[in-house]
Amino acid sequence: MPNVTVLDHPLLRHKLALLRDKTTTTAMFRQVAREISLLMAYEVTRDLPLEPIEIETPLETMQAEHLVGKKLCIVSILRAGNGILEGMLDLVPSARVGHIGLYRDPSTLQPVEYYLKLPSDVADRLVILVDPMLATGHSADAAASRLKQAGVTAMKFVCLLAAPEGVASFTAAHPDVPVFTGAIDRELDSHGYIRPGLGDAGDRFYGTR
Ligand code: URA
Repeated sequence: MPNVTVLDHPLLRHKLALLRDKTTTTAMFRQVAREISLLMAYEVTRDLPLEPIEIETPLETMQAEHLVGKKLCIVSILRAGNGILEGMLDLVPSARVGHIGLYRDPSTLQPVEYYLKLPSDVADRLVILVDPMLATGHSADAAASRLKQAGVTAMKFVCLLAAPEGVASFTAAHPDVPVFTGAIDRELDSHGYIRPGLGDAGDRFYGTR
């Protein structure tokens, strides 16, 4: 699929199985999701540009490299997106963080924004938009559109699991936003759950069920 990367690292696949397992406790779920998020942050930042820089080691001068280009902003789609923020920040602690809250209007079934807080310079940053589950794709689509409206021109979307339906609708709406996922599952069920999936990611992060 164009513009979609399924991360296939063995550690990630092993950890995803732990997340999916219904006997995994809330504490373990959080910890494993944090570890997976760090691995995903590693992959999603693989193409960040570097520039040569001269430094002094204790022994001699050398040409090393450092990051150049846009600084990062991680934007979490509330509430479950917050569960993968910490792992990403473990790897890129200086990244700025934004939050976007959306709910689905029961009559129109369209996402409605109820919260938005972004860094003032978000338009100049590379945004990594995070939501653990790309199910219908409606929330991710609305969040990406809102970020573009705020001036963002460089964005990647990261999720733990995706449904084929969500991948198709998101990539059709945002062909310019690469998607990184741990797996593309079989299908979306009639209740909007990814199958086989891992259940409700928010409930599993926060023990609210
Ligand atoms: N959101 C979830 O938390 N789980 C799903 O399976 C789909 C959407």
